[in-house]
Amino acid sequence: MNLTLNVWRQASRDARGGFVAYDVKAVSPDMSFLEMLDVLNESLIARGDDPVAFDHDCREGICGACGVVINGRAHGPQARTTACQLHMRSFKDGDTLTIEPWRAAAFPVLRDLVVDRSAFDRIIAAGGYVSVNAGGAPDGNTILIPKDVSEAAMDSAACIGCGACVAACKNASAHLFMSAKIAHLALLPQGRVERYRRVVTMIEQADAEGFGSCSNEGECEAVCPKEIPISNIARMTREYVKAVLTADR
Ligand code: SF4
Ligand code: FES
Repeated sequence: MNLTLNVWRQASRDARGGFVAYDVKAVSPDMSFLEMLDVLNESLIARGDDPVAFDHDCREGICGACGVVINGRAHGPQARTTACQLHMRSFKDGDTLTIEPWRAAAFPVLRDLVVDRSAFDRIIAAGGYVSVNAGGAPDGNTILIPKDVSEAAMDSAACIGCGACVAACKNASAHLFMSAKIAHLALLPQGRVERYRRVVTMIEQADAEGFGSCSNEGECEAVCPKEIPISNIARMTREYVKAVLTADR
């Protein structure tokens, strides 16, 4: 496959960015999207140009580092798939692909396709943890949890913190990300000790970081590679209302 790539190039956080067109040739349909970018970068390095900076780590859909917007869609055209697990067979010979970083004020571009997602870390630090002393690992059946509850908690814990939900949202809202963390902790007994304090501090931190509000568009759910349901946002809202109506926080 021969492709034309329109890639966002930006030298630093404060530099003015812009799209630059590159031709890449002999791309295998079996390459991953990131391997295709590796091919581009090898050709750029060979001719003395700066390679395109992009974030990645696991390359197997686990770490959440690799997010880019491909032809206007966070993580590209294939549903439930991170950019690192997207294969070039999703595209056609002769295609033109536009590749750009997440766009959100709370995720400033550091270089080319790399954004600073440390705002997510600060939201987690504000409340997305359990601070009770749990002691040693208990027997598996010491705390009985109904199977449907444990599965719902595990489904929410599948969030990889990639930020695609923010990139897809016209409000740059972090609600789907926060709601996944809040739901998985609120559903389990270990997380209930701090459930009301948690939801308030995490939402306050998201506001301070510059993320927007949720207006129920559903774009976040549509692009989430881990199928985190938007119903989690309703759960988060219920948790928040209970928190502000009680002194128990
Ligand atoms: S909710 Fe989905 S899209 Fe948002 S950070 Fe988590 S895994 Fe990524
Ligand atoms: S590189 Fe880890 S999820 Fe894509």
